[in-house]
Amino acid sequence: MNDERILIRRSGPLHGEVVIPGAKNSVLKLMAATLLADGDFTLTNVPDIVDVGIMGELLAAIGVTSEWVGQGTLRMVNCGNITPVAPYELVERIRASINVLGPLLGRFGHVSLSLPGGDDFGSRPIDMHLKGLEAMGATFELTHGVVEARAERLHGAEITLEFPSVGATENILTAAVHAKGTTVIDNAAREPEISDLCQFLVGMGAHIEGIGSSTLTVHGVEPGELRATDHQVVPDRIQAATYLAAVAVSGGEVVLRGARADHMDMLLRRFRDMGLQITDVGDGLAIWANGRMRSIDVATLPYPGIATDYKPLIVTMLAVADGVGIVTENLYPGRFRYVEELQRLGADIRADGHHAVVRGVAQLSGAPVRAPDIRAGAALVVAGLAADGQTSVAGVHHVDRGYDDLVGRLAALGADIERVG
Ligand code: EPU
Repeated sequence: MNDERILIRRSGPLHGEVVIPGAKNSVLKLMAATLLADGDFTLTNVPDIVDVGIMGELLAAIGVTSEWVGQGTLRMVNCGNITPVAPYELVERIRASINVLGPLLGRFGHVSLSLPGGDDFGSRPIDMHLKGLEAMGATFELTHGVVEARAERLHGAEITLEFPSVGATENILTAAVHAKGTTVIDNAAREPEISDLCQFLVGMGAHIEGIGSSTLTVHGVEPGELRATDHQVVPDRIQAATYLAAVAVSGGEVVLRGARADHMDMLLRRFRDMGLQITDVGDGLAIWANGRMRSIDVATLPYPGIATDYKPLIVTMLAVADGVGIVTENLYPGRFRYVEELQRLGADIRADGHHAVVRGVAQLSGAPVRAPDIRAGAALVVAGLAADGQTSVAGVHHVDRGYDDLVGRLAALGADIERVG
């Protein structure tokens, strides 16, 4: 597996239609939320990515099975035989494993969870998750890297998050559905994937108000009252942005079927500022690109701001745009590691702390590079489309964690790309 590479040669213009799969950062949370009720769940529009398999293994160890029953359709069965222990070998592979905490604690009153791993960019603490759950009556003990969480029965609380953390919002939400009384989460994260989780929980019988806003109010139900449900996963805005970036650097005309303009509003505005023509075609987005882009300055922020996960793509686009762009990272200090890889391709970027100054160059030049994480890996593939000669991207397993057949989808649009090894 370690020898696998994606080989890309300069491509474009790209043409055709690409179907946008469901969002990794939604489906993993929906899968964890199946711990909340016994029965059969069917999830559709599920991306075929490695992280779904890892989450499936983790849940199988706890007591919920999953199997593909058709393309993009995952059937999950919770027989009620749950062991609330999340083992280290699985937890360390995926950050979203932390999402079993809320459902298990709220329903069973006990969880033993190894601290999560996942992407390695800077420290990613879970203090806000724990503080919120503590306010609802939980206690935590950390020994030897394992969090032992306990609660008789959680009770409602008024919780104001210091920062609209995606994971903390999700864990508090999935704990609160079974708490006694009402929980109010203020300064909640508002990402479309959070709304998707809320809709899933509502489908299971939970009572949630303020979906899509920064104040979520949850009226708890008795354990046992929620039921299994079916749900279609929200389209992946980050994968959609990746195909937009691919067309932006290669030129062409492509329809992204299923992409939601309303979930990408701020990004689309900024892409239009760069000179790209993007239109909402109802059940997707159409992009037309021809020639050089203009540079812009961008700062990452929680939704509805520009997501940190878009940033490597934006930096790549700026690397081949006219002018100078400054990119400011407000979520993860140190998430600029891929910059050195882009520099190998001839990009003119200076990164320092939270900022990167990107001067557009006339031409990138292909070279061997290594993906340091999921999003940076995809950005290096996009850079390869605009680079002279051949770019070889190693560390493909990172890309596989979050992208459903990126290579096949780009090839179908006419990109000169293949997977080897
Ligand atoms: N933070 C804390 N304390 C906490 C929680 C978060 O200090 O208790 C900090 C983090 O260290 C980080 C910031 O707050 O600096 C944002 O963290 P958040 O909780 O919002 O993010 P997350 O839930 O860990 C999810 C996505 C990430 C995405 C971020 C931000 C999943 C599995 N991961 O992470 O996606 O970058 O939200 O939008 O949903 C990816 O898909 O490649 C990815 C890394």
